[in-house]
Amino acid sequence: MKGIILAGGLGTRLYPLTKVTNKHLLPIYNAPMIYYPLRCLVTAGIKDIMIVTGGNSAGDFLKLLGNGRDFGLKHLNYTYQEGEGGIAEALGLCEHFAENEKVCVVLGDNIIEKNILDCVKAFEAQKDGAMIILKKVPDPERFGVPMFAADGRIVRIEEKPERPGSDYAVTGIYMYDSTVFDIIKTLKPSDRGELEITDVNNAYIKMGNLEWRELDGWWTDAGTFDSLLKASRLVAETGANKVE
Ligand code: G1P
Repeated sequence: MKGIILAGGLGTRLYPLTKVTNKHLLPIYNAPMIYYPLRCLVTAGIKDIMIVTGGNSAGDFLKLLGNGRDFGLKHLNYTYQEGEGGIAEALGLCEHFAENEKVCVVLGDNIIEKNILDCVKAFEAQKDGAMIILKKVPDPERFGVPMFAADGRIVRIEEKPERPGSDYAVTGIYMYDSTVFDIIKTLKPSDRGELEITDVNNAYIKMGNLEWRELDGWWTDAGTFDSLLKASRLVAETGANKVE
């Protein structure tokens, strides 16, 4: 399985912190944000990784990470997303890189306590389709939220619903087969003018081919002032995933 980290966007919710630099280069306690999704993939045994950057300071990723030697890698791939086309558009830029293999996609601002090794193994064993990772949260209205059928399957995901249909957030860790690139080509921009990853996941639900797992350990995003602070505190206080 190949790995993809989405680290583009303008990070407007963190302005002016992101006025001159990319959100994913900001600190989470003692390390740049991008270190955490990179570790998430590497600790799951994924070594062939593409980083999609965009916006400000794209060249700084190369200066910071080089070929990934600090992470035990021999090589890293980079690509650039022009503008603010959304998560699904950024993923669409990786079709050539994926070469029909399955991919594990991690949003560059998602920080986890433990690792996703079991989920990655489960998806390797899954014939095709997609797998998403859920986490129970106190504020589901900030995220993609799944609605469940009685048998536990997801019937629909709503993006930032006013009245959430469950207590779960769809985390920014997604696994897809190569059909994902065909799905992305059929998407239309949402009201915020972006190709939404939630629309990709709903397309897999329609095909009856979306599985899910619950993440073990804490999870947070880091795209707002509050969640950025929370991420630093969680790493500092629990020592989990701390970069030594
Ligand atoms: C994105 C997705 C959302 C998901 C979240 C996880 O939201 O659209 O479904 O729950 O990432 O971090 P964003 O933070 O881009 O608004």
